[in-house]
Amino acid sequence: MPISLAVRDTGPPMVSIRGLRVLRGGRPILSDLSCDIGRGKITAIVGLNGCGKSTLLRTLVGEFAYTGSITFACGEDHSRPRPDHVGYVPQRLSIESSLPITVRDLIGLAQQRWPIFFGVSRRAVRKLQPALERVGVPPSLLDVPIDGLSGGQLQRVMLALALEPKPELLLLDEPSSGIDFKDQQGFNSLLAEINNESGTTIVLVSHDLNTLNQFAHHVLCLRGGRIIAEGAPADVLTPEAIAQTFGPAAVAG
Ligand SMILES: Nc1ncnc2c1ncn2[C@@H]1O[C@H](COP(=O)(O)OP(=O)(O)OP(=O)(O)O)[C@@H](O)[C@H]1O
Ligand SMILES: [Mg+2]
Repeated sequence: MPISLAVRDTGPPMVSIRGLRVLRGGRPILSDLSCDIGRGKITAIVGLNGCGKSTLLRTLVGEFAYTGSITFACGEDHSRPRPDHVGYVPQRLSIESSLPITVRDLIGLAQQRWPIFFGVSRRAVRKLQPALERVGVPPSLLDVPIDGLSGGQLQRVMLALALEPKPELLLLDEPSSGIDFKDQQGFNSLLAEINNESGTTIVLVSHDLNTLNQFAHHVLCLRGGRIIAEGAPADVLTPEAIAQTFGPAAVAG
């Protein structure tokens, strides 16, 4: 079934980034990076391993210090989004995956105010139930330790957590890399549906250039920590731009 992509007007951007520079280990990873993240749009970030895609998302969620400016237009005061306004699915969990915590505990950690050693409230789980169902996490996984989940199952759980409460801005770092091929299309449709129904602005890192023109409004091509091309997928994912972003081997043959 073809994915139906909402047509979006360009209003004021959801995020404006100007002259962004981020150092990691004393080395510049992002340099002089400027772009706008269109409100209500699905923006895909593409580029080679190590070019700075995750660093960009992690900077947006406040993990790294930076110079330059990042201006958000979500939240009440339109400058400092609270966690409620932004959903984020990292490329990998930064907690020790062998910690003896279950999916239910993870839900408690994310949703309730008191420590989970007092128990995970049924209310917290009930609140997340629609999101879990939507992303295809069956109730049978609730009591599975997180290190027992498959990569795709963990990514689905993380996406459900990012969807409750409903975010204005959803940042997804390779959200479908663990999702099996038969579900890729369903996953892409789900993102288009989320964007469609509530106008959620979505930024996702993807290596799947073949499907982006079906469901992304805008593509940012990153190379060496800089944006070297951006625009609508049909305009940007040309053999020339792909060769520039990924090197000539990417379009050979
Ligand atoms: N502490 C550090 N010190 C020095 N360099 C670092 C440090 N942490 C990360 N880097 C480098 O930053 C660069 C960007 O990393 P990042 O995770 O943003 O890449 P990416 O584009 O998301 O790659 P991938 O497609 O593999 O996920 C990499 O070259 C990485 O080696
Ligand atoms: Mg990455």
